[in-house]
Amino acid sequence: MAKPETDQAIPSLRLENVWKHFDGHSAARGVSFELQKGELLALLGPSGCGKTTTLRLVAGFEIPDQGQIEIGGRLAAGKGVYVPPDKRKVGMVFQEYALFPHLNVAENVQFGLRSYGGDKAGRVNDVLNLVGLQGLHKRMPHELSGGQQQRVALARALAPEPDLVLLDEPFSNLDAGLRVRVRAEVRSILKEANATAVFVTHDQEEALSLVDQVAVMLDGVVRQVSSPRELYYHPVSKAVAEFVGDSNFLPGTASGRYVDCELGRLESQVEMRGAVHVLIRPEVVDVKPAGPGSGCRVQEVVFFGHDQLISIQLASGARIDARLGPNYQFFRGQPVEVRIMGRVMAYPA
Ligand SMILES: Nc1ncnc2c1ncn2[C@@H]1O[C@H](COP(=O)(O)OP(=O)(O)OP(=O)(O)O)[C@@H](O)[C@H]1O
Ligand SMILES: [Mg+2]
Repeated sequence: MAKPETDQAIPSLRLENVWKHFDGHSAARGVSFELQKGELLALLGPSGCGKTTTLRLVAGFEIPDQGQIEIGGRLAAGKGVYVPPDKRKVGMVFQEYALFPHLNVAENVQFGLRSYGGDKAGRVNDVLNLVGLQGLHKRMPHELSGGQQQRVALARALAPEPDLVLLDEPFSNLDAGLRVRVRAEVRSILKEANATAVFVTHDQEEALSLVDQVAVMLDGVVRQVSSPRELYYHPVSKAVAEFVGDSNFLPGTASGRYVDCELGRLESQVEMRGAVHVLIRPEVVDVKPAGPGSGCRVQEVVFFGHDQLISIQLASGARIDARLGPNYQFFRGQPVEVRIMGRVMAYPA
C-alpha cells in the first residue's frame, strides 16, 4: 500500500477564512493561519481582538459562521461539518480555569487521563511536579489560590499528551518568577512530546520568548504570522509594529533603499519611495553627550536594572526613545547627540 503523505505535509491545525459574529459584532473576521506538528504558536493581540473566540472555535465551543477548521488534516468545522469538543483530541487551559469542585487535585488531573495507557498515578505525579504543586494531591480546588488552580488546569490539559494544546493566558495568574519558570517548563515538555500548541496572550514578551510562530491579531483579523525575530524586525504594517515591541516613528521621505528624516539619511530594510513613517527600534538609537548647542535634550530616564530607556526630545519637538545598557548616565535636560546604528523599517504615510 502506498505510504500516506508525511505529517510534515499536513498541518496539525489549519484555519481558513474563519468568521464569527456575535449580535452584529464580528469577533473573528476571516482568520487564517496554520501550524505544523510540533510547532508552538502564540495568538497575540490586545484585549477584545478575538483571541479567545478563535481558540473557542478551534476547541469546538463555538461554531464558525463561515470558513473551515482542520485539525490533524481532518475537517473539524465548516462545510456543514461540526466535530464536538470531546472528539477533537485537544487539551485546553482557559482563562477561567474550570476545575471539578468535588474532585481533589490528583483526581482533577487524573480526569484528563481516562484513556491514557501508561502509569496514571506516575503521570499525575510528573505533571504536578512540573507545575510546582508536588504534595498537593489531596487538596480540593476551593483550598487553592487562583494561581494554583490555574496550574492544576494546566497539569490536567498536559497529562494525556494531547495532539493539540490550547492555552488561553495560562500563566496570567502566576507570579512573575514562577511564570518564567513554568512557561519554560511547559515549552520544554511540549517540545519533548512534539506537541502542537496555541497560546493566547496579550503579553508580547511572553509571545516572543515562548513560541516558534507568532500570529498577531488586531480587531478580529490575523495581520501577520512570523517567527518572533521576523515579526520584531519586519513587522508588515505600522499597526503591527506599534503592537509588538517599543517603536519610535518619525516622518520621512523614502528614496529606494534610503529614508531621510530628522535624524539624517538612514538605510532602510525595504525599498520605497515617497512619504513614509520611519520605524526606529529603541535598541538602534545611540546617544552621546553633546554641547549646549545641540537641539536634542534628554526628557526622561527610566532605569530598569538590566537596561534603561532614555527619552529624547528632538529639535522638531518629536520624541524618540533609546534603550541603553545600565552603565550610561544621563540626566534630564542634558543636551545629547542622537545617531541610528542600524537599518530601519518604513511604512507609507
Ligand atoms: N458570546 C459572546 N457574545 C457576544 N459578544 C462576544 C461573545 N464572546 C466574545 N464577544 C465579543 O467579541 C470580541 C472578542 O472577544 P474575545 O473574548 O475573543 O477577545 P480576546 O482577544 O480574548 O480579549 P481578552 O484579551 O480581553 O481576553 C469582544 O468584543 C467581545 O466582547
Ligand atoms: Mg480572551
